[in-house]
Amino acid sequence: MNTRKVTTLSLREQKAKGEKIVVVTAYDVTFARLADRSGVDVVLVGDSLGMTIQGNANTLPVTLDEMIYHCRAASRGVSRAHLVADMPFLSYQASMEDGIRSAGRLLKEGGAEAVKVEGGAEVAPLVERLVSIGIPVMGHVGMTPQSVHKFGGFRVQGKSDEQAEFISAGARALASAGAYAMVIENVPGKLAAAITQAVDVPTIGIGAGPGCDGQVLVMHDLLGLDPDWSPRFARRYAELGLATRDAFAAYAADVRAGKFPGEKESTK
Ligand code: KIV
Repeated sequence: MNTRKVTTLSLREQKAKGEKIVVVTAYDVTFARLADRSGVDVVLVGDSLGMTIQGNANTLPVTLDEMIYHCRAASRGVSRAHLVADMPFLSYQASMEDGIRSAGRLLKEGGAEAVKVEGGAEVAPLVERLVSIGIPVMGHVGMTPQSVHKFGGFRVQGKSDEQAEFISAGARALASAGAYAMVIENVPGKLAAAITQAVDVPTIGIGAGPGCDGQVLVMHDLLGLDPDWSPRFARRYAELGLATRDAFAAYAADVRAGKFPGEKESTK
């Protein structure tokens, strides 16, 4: 396994060499450490934690303090991978100053190495400012979950020519503003591939086909942690939800039968 530290620069080199970039979310030290040791390139402390960890219907309720808390925990497990934290809803949309302070806190208190913001041309001035003061920014275009109510649900974006041009223009604006990478979420594969050709920074797809420079999955979807739900575009690489439920049940059965603790687990 490559032990070289992943950075904003090495990610750009990966794009130049045609080496796919692997991104996964994690929200605490245990899973961040496992992800890091598996050799993934980027650990993303996503505001998807509002759904996966907090049980909300969307990401809007997540606060900056919650993002910092989870990022700080995850940062303790990451050494080789590049660590990115999401800027949560309303931590950067109201003013430039909000954006700078929020991003700064994610690096200073959360231990993040970069922040991710949702949106295209409308966030480009903030991206430019953050980059100018030394904060690397990953963009996020397409079906941006913080705009779920504008979209009328978590729906595929970019199907019409007008939407596709809007998303492409946003991606180009992010790259021009200095974003070092960008997520492209839930858009037709052809559009994501065209954006990937058009911008010189790595694109990371989710529900956006194989034409991106890398892929990101939410760890709960990849690990099958919710046995009852999986998005259409995710692939399960394990059934940890069922395995965990079975382990809890086996423990409960042992306790109830007086089989745990046994001789081995008891203090002499
Ligand atoms: O919040 C998140 O986990 C994300 C990824 C799905 C890209 O933004």
